[in-house]
Amino acid sequence: MDIAAAASVFTDPRAYADDARFRAATALLRRESPVHLVEHERFNPFYAITRHEDVMAISRASDIWLNAPRPALGPKAKDADREKIPIRSLVQMDAPDHPVYRHVSADWFKPAGVRRLRDRIAELAKRYVDHMADLGGECDFFRDVAAHYPLYVILSLLGLPEEDFPLMLRLTQELFGADDEELARGGDKSAQMAALIDFFNYFQALIAERRANPTDDLGSVIANATIRGERINELEAAGYYTLIATAGHDTTSAALAGGLHALVESPGQWQRLVDDPSLVPTAFDEMIRWVSPVKQFMRTATEDTEVRGVRIAAGESVLLSYPSANRDEDVFDNPNSFDVGRSPNRHVAFGFGAHYCLGTHLARLEGQALYAELISRVRSIELAGTPEYMEAMFVGGPKRLPVRYTMA
Ligand code: HEM
Repeated sequence: MDIAAAASVFTDPRAYADDARFRAATALLRRESPVHLVEHERFNPFYAITRHEDVMAISRASDIWLNAPRPALGPKAKDADREKIPIRSLVQMDAPDHPVYRHVSADWFKPAGVRRLRDRIAELAKRYVDHMADLGGECDFFRDVAAHYPLYVILSLLGLPEEDFPLMLRLTQELFGADDEELARGGDKSAQMAALIDFFNYFQALIAERRANPTDDLGSVIANATIRGERINELEAAGYYTLIATAGHDTTSAALAGGLHALVESPGQWQRLVDDPSLVPTAFDEMIRWVSPVKQFMRTATEDTEVRGVRIAAGESVLLSYPSANRDEDVFDNPNSFDVGRSPNRHVAFGFGAHYCLGTHLARLEGQALYAELISRVRSIELAGTPEYMEAMFVGGPKRLPVRYTMA
């Protein structure tokens, strides 16, 4: 593979469904061209950042590197749309607004806030392992378990009624799976926007309801938030819900399912976890590193600067490749081995700096609850077919994970 072929992985959604290709390409880039200019007719140019140290340094310097102009990689047409659409969520904001809006929900995501959900999460984890038992020894772990469980958690947190959960699941998959023919609405990639509009309409109704009848859920806190002395406007509140509903579950689903894939395919690792359940926390973090469900975010330079000796002009953008940083051989021993006991594990799958994932405690609580339940009740487990991965350039993981198991 030459460098140009390697750099094509960032603009080709199929590369994210082909682990061997992605891994080989990013290893080459880390070694030969860690700050690499990518030019492609469908995308505005950007520099691909593949080393852990550089991803951290850029994420840390949020005074020089902004989110707003171009928060994530999309086709040129989408970059142009962004300027026209008045929707902003946390990931599209920078200081001084970003900390003010982040503060609205931040307490809900701190360990003390998340602990309130511990019982509900344990109950849901049990419900899904019961479901596996009911399915009689074979299931698609992604479709039957991983795709639903985190969604139930996050929508319970927001305060949505359970009968609306299937609609939310479908809309989220359409939004993030839109590069993948099978998941996009009727195979039409441009319909991503339609899914977004459906989200907004749904949330607009919810905002009206929570303003009229406030409850003690996160949905009410956002709908009634005060921003610099004024009530949050409806578009911003709807943007906030959409971010939480989407960021809060697709990512965790991907980590759960991709994590199980790694666990059953890596010799001895399942048994090691069964023999020592105290490894569940390090095991779930290793799953997050391994899968790196968020494939990229971008930053745009506010001034002429340099990264690893490469000059980047004000207004130019960089793509932070989390899956590449998480296999960086300068940071991780045996980066391509899946190790349930890996410690320390300095992965950047949750990002870093001002935009560091708000949902880390929640994601860990969910993942650890499900794996604790699984290893105590599943006696043996193996693949029952070939797993398939999403062709998605933003958030992705398995879309099919057939497994066969026996319950204790
Ligand atoms: C394994 C699961 C998850 C992964 C891998 C993940 C990853 C990420 C990443 C990479 C970012 C951007 C960080 C940056 O720019 O430095 C982010 C931001 C965010 N995440 Fe997560 N996330 C996960 C779960 C969750 C959950 C459960 C929630 C719950 C609501 C959540 C809510 C958010 C929010 C609101 C932001 C935006 C923060 C900001 O811009 O200030 N995430 N996440």
